[in-house]
Amino acid sequence: MSTPILSLEGFLSEKIPQLLQEHALDLKGKDKRFVESLHLALPKVYQLFHELYGAFPEAETQFLELLRSLIWSHKERSHALQERDQFKAEKGIWFLSNELAGMSLYVDRFAGNLKGMPAKIPHLEELGINFLHLMPIMESPLGESDGGYAVSDFRKVDPRFGTLEDLKALIQVMQNKGMYLMLDMVLNHTSHHHEWAKKAKAGDPEYQAFYHTYEDRWVPNEFEQAMPEIFPESAPGNFTWCEEMKRWVMTVFHSYQWDLNFRNPQVFRAMLENILFYGNLGVDVLRIDAPAFIWKQAGTSCQNLPQAHTLLRLIKQCVQVASPGMTILGEAIVAPKEIMNYFGTGEYVAQECDFAYHATQMALQWDMLASGETQVMLNAQEDVLKKPYGTSWITYTRCHDDIGLGYEDASIARAGKDPYLHRKFLKEYYSYSGNQWMSPARGVLFSSNPKTGDARISGTLASLCGLEKALFEGNGPAIELSIQKILMMQAHAIFLGGLPMIFYGDEVGYINDYSYQQDPSKNYDNRWMHRPLIDWEKVNRRKTEGTLEFQVYEGLKKLLALRKSQPVFSDWSNCTWMNPHNIHVAGLVRSRGSERRYCIYNFSESTAYLTWYVFREQGESATQLHDHWTDSLVTIGSDQEHLILEPYGFRIFEPKA
Ligand code: GLC
Repeated sequence: MSTPILSLEGFLSEKIPQLLQEHALDLKGKDKRFVESLHLALPKVYQLFHELYGAFPEAETQFLELLRSLIWSHKERSHALQERDQFKAEKGIWFLSNELAGMSLYVDRFAGNLKGMPAKIPHLEELGINFLHLMPIMESPLGESDGGYAVSDFRKVDPRFGTLEDLKALIQVMQNKGMYLMLDMVLNHTSHHHEWAKKAKAGDPEYQAFYHTYEDRWVPNEFEQAMPEIFPESAPGNFTWCEEMKRWVMTVFHSYQWDLNFRNPQVFRAMLENILFYGNLGVDVLRIDAPAFIWKQAGTSCQNLPQAHTLLRLIKQCVQVASPGMTILGEAIVAPKEIMNYFGTGEYVAQECDFAYHATQMALQWDMLASGETQVMLNAQEDVLKKPYGTSWITYTRCHDDIGLGYEDASIARAGKDPYLHRKFLKEYYSYSGNQWMSPARGVLFSSNPKTGDARISGTLASLCGLEKALFEGNGPAIELSIQKILMMQAHAIFLGGLPMIFYGDEVGYINDYSYQQDPSKNYDNRWMHRPLIDWEKVNRRKTEGTLEFQVYEGLKKLLALRKSQPVFSDWSNCTWMNPHNIHVAGLVRSRGSERRYCIYNFSESTAYLTWYVFREQGESATQLHDHWTDSLVTIGSDQEHLILEPYGFRIFEPKA
C-alpha cells in the first residue's frame, strides 16, 4: 500500500512557509530570487518527484528533505556566483553563443596536476579556447578508475590531481579570464570503493538498497536477457559477484563500477546534493555521464527508459532553482531519435538537458570521410535538425571515448547501401590490421562483440586521418593531405551549430600512443591510445613555421577565430543542408535574418565540381562570395559552371552583394 504524499497545495500553504522560516530566508532581500523561483518551480518539482517516488512509504519526508537540500544549496552559494548567475541571465541563453569554444582534457596528462593548469592556459587562450572540460578529477582508485569514471568520493579531488583548494584556485583563475568550466557528474554508478559500497559490502541493508544487489541469479538472469553489454571484451555481462557481500551486484560498465539504484529516493537526494555541490564550486556546465542508463527495469534494455527522462527533468528543475547559472549536458550516446529526447519532449521540451553530444553527426562525419559520400549523413538530418530552440549540441570530431557507428540502418539503406556491409567497410577502413590495402587510417576496433558483430573505433583524429601512416612512410604529400583532412574534419565540427569541443592533443596533431599497452591499469582498454600524455616540446613546435604542429594549430586557431567573429554561427537552431548536387560535397547553410554563411566540404580524395546553381537554388542573390578560409573572393558563375574544390577542400563563404 502506498502512502499518499501531502498535496501540492498542502506543501505550498503549510510546509514551504515553515521551511522558509526555519532557514531564516530573507524574502524581500537577498533570497528573493531564490524564493520566487522555488515557488515557480514547485509544481513541476512536485509532479516529477511524485511520478518517481510518490508510492514510496517515506515520500513526504524525502520530498521535504529535497526542498531542504535546495535551500541549503542556495544558502551556500557565494555572492560572487550569484552575480555570475545574474550576468549569464542578462546575456539571454548564454551558452548558445558563437564566442564559446571548448577543449576537453585530462589534467594530469596535460599539465601534471591542477596547480600546473594556470601556466598552460595561455596556450589554450591563444588557440581561442575559453571553455574547459576537465576530465574526471574526483577521487577514483588507481587501476580501477575507468579514466576517473569510477568515483569513490564525489567531493574530494583525487590526490593525483591536487586538492579541492587547487580546484577552487583554478576556477578563480578561469573566471577572472572569462573562461567557463565543465565537470563530470558520474550519476549512474560509483566505484566499489565509495563509502556507500563499502557499507553495502559490510552488510548494511540501507546501503545495499543504494545499489541493485541480489542474493541469487534469478533476477540478474532475467535482466541479462534484454540488456546489451557495454564492454563485452573487457567486462562481459551486467552483474558481478561480490564475495564480501555474498550478493550479485549490477555493474553495467566495469565490474568495479556499481550501478546506483535511483528507485530509492535517498539515492536521488544524495546525488542531487552532489550535483548542487558542483554547482556551488562554480561549474558552468555539468556533464551528466551516461544518463541513458540511470533507470533499470528487468525485461528492457535498461537504456532510455521514461523514468530516466523524469529524473533528468527533476534534476534540471532543482538546478534551475538552486544553481541557476549551471547548465546540463546529458552524455547520451544512443540512437539519433533517442538522443533528441534528452532535450525534453511534450510539456518538457527544452527543459531536460541543455546540451547533448552531437554523437550522430560526429559518427556520420567519419562515415563521410571513409566513404567519400554524403548521402548517409543527409538521410539522418531529418531527426537531428529537430533540436529545439534554446538547447545546443557539443560538436566534436572525437572525444576521449570510442567512435560508435550508432546511426540508423535506414539512413544507410536509403543511400542504396547494405547496412551490414557498409558498417563492415567502415570498421575495416578505420582499423589497422597490418595488411591494409585501402585505407590510410590507423585505428583499432574497440569492444568488438562477436555475438552482435558490433564494434566501435579507437584512434586519434590525426591517426584516423592518415597522419600516422604518412609519417611512418615519410610520405610528404600524404602528410599534407592528412593535415588537410584534419582541418576539414575540425571545420565541419566547428561550424555545425553548437559548442565545439576540441579534444586535447588534436590541436597539434597527436597520433596514437601505444604505451598504454605496457600499463596494467590501462592495457584492457584501447581508448587510452587516443588519450595522449602531452609532451610540451612537441606542443612548442607549433611555434615553428613549417612543422606539422604549426600547420594544425594555426589552422585550428583560424577556424575558431572565424567562428568567434561571426554571430551567425551562434546556435540559433539555424542550420540547413544544401541539396547534394555533388554526392561528395556537404553544404551547410547557417542563416539569421538576411545573413548567410555557406560551409562547403569536399569529403572526397579527388577534386570535386559543384555547380554554382546550388547557391541560386538557395535564393542567393549575391554575385560574389568571400571565402573566409582562403581569404579569397570568387564570382558565382552560371549554372553550368562549377566551384572547384580540391581533395578534402572546404570553404566558409559569406555572400558579397
Ligand atoms: C561515459 C564515459 C566513458 C565511461 C562511461 C562509464 O560514457 O564517457 O568514458 O567509460 O561513461 O562511466
